[in-house]
Amino acid sequence: MDKIVVKTGGFVSEIFVGMNWESVKELIPASGTAIITDINVNKIYGDRFPDVPVLQIKPGEWSKKMEVVENLAERLIESGIDRSGFLLGIGGGVVCDITGFLASIYMRGIKCAYVSSTLLSQVDASTGGKNGVNLGSTKNVLGCFKQPEFVVCDPVMLQTLPEEEYLSGMAELIKTAIIGNAKLFDIIENNYETIMKRDPALLTMLISMAVNFKASVVSEDEKESGLRRILNFGHTYGHALELYKSFRHGYAVACGMELSCGFSLARGYITDEEHDRIIALLHKFRLLRPHQIPYDKVSQLIMHDKKKSGNEIHFVFIEGIGQAVTEKIPLAEVVEYYRQSKAKN
Ligand SMILES: NC(=O)c1ccc[n+]([C@@H]2O[C@H](COP(=O)([O-])OP(=O)(O)OC[C@H]3O[C@@H](n4cnc5c(N)ncnc54)[C@H](O)[C@@H]3O)[C@@H](O)[C@H]2O)c1
Repeated sequence: MDKIVVKTGGFVSEIFVGMNWESVKELIPASGTAIITDINVNKIYGDRFPDVPVLQIKPGEWSKKMEVVENLAERLIESGIDRSGFLLGIGGGVVCDITGFLASIYMRGIKCAYVSSTLLSQVDASTGGKNGVNLGSTKNVLGCFKQPEFVVCDPVMLQTLPEEEYLSGMAELIKTAIIGNAKLFDIIENNYETIMKRDPALLTMLISMAVNFKASVVSEDEKESGLRRILNFGHTYGHALELYKSFRHGYAVACGMELSCGFSLARGYITDEEHDRIIALLHKFRLLRPHQIPYDKVSQLIMHDKKKSGNEIHFVFIEGIGQAVTEKIPLAEVVEYYRQSKAKN
């Protein structure tokens, strides 16, 4: 088991990778805890949850809205959870985002922690303290930064994940490799079969590498005023695709990374060889989907992205495998590159 520490403004959050998730019983307070989970996760693991009140939500992005948060808050009151309470989210990115957000506003803030049960949330969503819900079609627009007390990432839980969800998580793992760890990229490239078999030992290593990288970035820039922006690689186009095509998060990010790599190549940041290696890896994990957003809609959808400031956007390029760079560029250039890339195909 690996323990990774995220330090932000005097707060210490511990991420346990490779720990048996059932040990969470020993980490939560003796009283005042409630679990938030979704119906799917509860069906598979609910009979082994700690003996505390369990609040279930419907699975998927649909639940990331204020109405669901309000409903959960009412149920917390009914369960007797007060200001000294503790929320434990057991689930994927959706459960973690909702749990973190609710914990940050319930009775002006209570403690929280996660058992992270999807690859996507283990390598990305549950580390870093970002949370939030969607407002209409705008993603994560209501939310804040709240670090969990701890996160448990047990790769054995990934055995029950549907293949589509597992591959969706691979996209965020590959993203981490592209922006920050060339060695991780090599390992993913050379271990396709073992990764597809979901070998817990290999997964523990890969998840630890991803969490270590994210922890180092977040420890330096918790509130995304600089360095942390690189974690959004692929997300500008990705969020537009997630909204327009309703792609799952990881697939949308993968298509966004394909476009961002092409854009990086067009601006001379990477070589043809580096570009082709990345695209080949995304293809190998079957992450790329056809898409064609009408050009007038691209601008509108990207305008929804919160990383925009005025008519400019902090766009994340790569300068080789394992190295990212952010450049503030006109939104029009991002839209124009989408047009050019589609005109080529
Ligand atoms: N806060 C952040 O920093 C951050 C980062 C990346 C993504 N996100 C958010 O994460 C969300 C996507 O997360 P996700 O991909 O984990 O989706 P998810 O939480 O919807 O989980 C995907 C599906 O897998 C099921 N599931 C979860 N664990 C399972 C298990 N062990 N076995 C079987 N089924 C299981 C769920 O019920 C759901 O149907 C998006 O809303 C995205 O915006 C947040």
